[in-house]
Amino acid sequence: MKQSTSPPGDPLSVSRRSFLKNLGTTAAAGAVSAAEGIAQESARAGAEAVQGPDAVPITLRVNGETRPLTLEPRVTLLDALRDHAGLTGAKEVCDRGTCGACTVLLDGEPVYACMMLAIQAQGREITTVEGLARNGNLTALQEAFVDKDASMCGYCTPGFVMSLTALLRRNPHPTPADIHHACAGNLCRCGTQPRIVQAALQASGVEVLSRTEVISYAHLA
Ligand code: FES
Ligand code: FES
Repeated sequence: MKQSTSPPGDPLSVSRRSFLKNLGTTAAAGAVSAAEGIAQESARAGAEAVQGPDAVPITLRVNGETRPLTLEPRVTLLDALRDHAGLTGAKEVCDRGTCGACTVLLDGEPVYACMMLAIQAQGREITTVEGLARNGNLTALQEAFVDKDASMCGYCTPGFVMSLTALLRRNPHPTPADIHHACAGNLCRCGTQPRIVQAALQASGVEVLSRTEVISYAHLA
């Protein structure tokens, strides 16, 4: 049986026997390192304190206030806000990360509150739609939603307001394309998106496009 196609004495020649031998050694080394990784992971998991299943004390920072709560670790941030902290601004619509009605800000970034556990939000600054107005004065964006009549049933509205608030804080003069992009994770089943874009443009002080222009921009974006 032919063992190697390389000429004898060639330093690069590899016999089938040595190839298989080295392959076995490499596979064995890989298996050992995988086993070590699993063992380290198990040790780490064992060292972490187990939370629950019963309710545990947690502390959330919401709209600048400290909120001590006692919750089962399985409770989502959305349910903690709505059912335990009395903040019903963030809406539960799909409860599976597809509609954006539950959007809140976590350290200034929009997140779906239905898709994270309340216990995970500890130590972060949470802002809900209730935390935007100051002394009863709506923000420019909220005012623009009213001016542009950018709400019908209103279920999606808080989520849009939160996503656009985050956008306007980091980019005070967005283009219509920026606005569409910022709202990519929010759905309005009533069809108010063109008015929402107009409201965001008004709040940023740029020229407000007609609804037809806004719609055509949406197709280009
Ligand atoms: S309720 Fe959270 S994304 Fe729809
Ligand atoms: S206003 Fe009804 S879903 Fe947007």
